[in-house]
Amino acid sequence: MKLPARVTIVDVGPRDGLQNESAALTVEDRVEFCRALIDAGLPVVEPGAFVSPKWVPQMAGSEEVFKALPKDRARLPMLVPNRQGFDRAKAAGVSAIAIFTAASDSFNRKNTNASIDESIRRFEEFTGEAKAGGMWVRGYISTCFGCPYEGKVVPAKVAEVTRRLIDLGCDEISLGDTIGVAVPSQMDEVIEAVARHVELSRLAVHLHDTRGTALANVLRALQLGVSIVDSSAGGLGGCPYAPGASGNLATEDLLYMLQGMGIETGVDLAKVAAASRRVGERLGRELPSRYLRATKR
Ligand code: HMG
Ligand code: MG
Repeated sequence: MKLPARVTIVDVGPRDGLQNESAALTVEDRVEFCRALIDAGLPVVEPGAFVSPKWVPQMAGSEEVFKALPKDRARLPMLVPNRQGFDRAKAAGVSAIAIFTAASDSFNRKNTNASIDESIRRFEEFTGEAKAGGMWVRGYISTCFGCPYEGKVVPAKVAEVTRRLIDLGCDEISLGDTIGVAVPSQMDEVIEAVARHVELSRLAVHLHDTRGTALANVLRALQLGVSIVDSSAGGLGGCPYAPGASGNLATEDLLYMLQGMGIETGVDLAKVAAASRRVGERLGRELPSRYLRATKR
């Protein structure tokens, strides 16, 4: 079986996870969570989002979270939806941002009040400046494998949006299974279509585990040459504008599989599990990671 020797894990728990929790954690608890993930060796942690706090109150105070974190040990991309978000990122001294659109218009409108075309026009207002200023830019594409409003999404559409994000200057593209409907054969279809526009080394998969297919999809994506995988500590997460979306693939479950297969990540599984347990206590609920549940003391 052809697999990469090393996988880069992007922990989106403090952003994608916490944005969907009904109880908002304090800035201090979010800082503690991010620090623990950085201490666990995660090379990329997404600490927060400069989106409208009216839309996603859980991400209010992301400036303070970012400012309290060490900047030299992990990449810390902040989610940015528009010029206003970019200005907040610049003012906070951020060096990596993540812009986000979708492969289906209906979802993008619910999520950002803009069609895909409109969202690209919004990004054009600041991506040139971001790149010229030396920022690293990730581009997320939601609903690559299915949309809660439109159903099937064709791989050619995902490829078209990929090309447009690459033209804007994105350094990396993350393919989102926002509502966790993908099956492994779709990894072949979508990754093959997208790989015409971006090198596999710049492609990430971002899989929500709603129907239990995320790890199978990761394995297929790795076989196809992808080596960047998004996950969320404890399996926290979802998307407030995707009905039925549950958490991302849990970082612990991903790590358990990768370690067992001898794939390098540089991440300490026990430390991630400890960070998730603390967040679970703060949220007052048991987190969905299977590894966490299997190793419950
Ligand atoms: P809008 O209402 O169309 O924006 O929202 P607007 O420009 O008309 O502004 C309305 C108000 O919001 C104004 O305030 C603005 O100042 C304020 P008011 O005058 O009413 O007091 N505003 C902002 N405030 C702070 N920061 C900003 C900002 N922009 C406007 N950046 C907008 C448009 C994009 C802002 C809104 O729809 C929004 O914030 N959406 C974000 C939704 C979100 O965060 N979704 C979850 C993240 S995406 C995701 O989870 C998917 C992913 O994980 C991949 C996957 O799984 O598929 C990435
Ligand atoms: Mg997501």
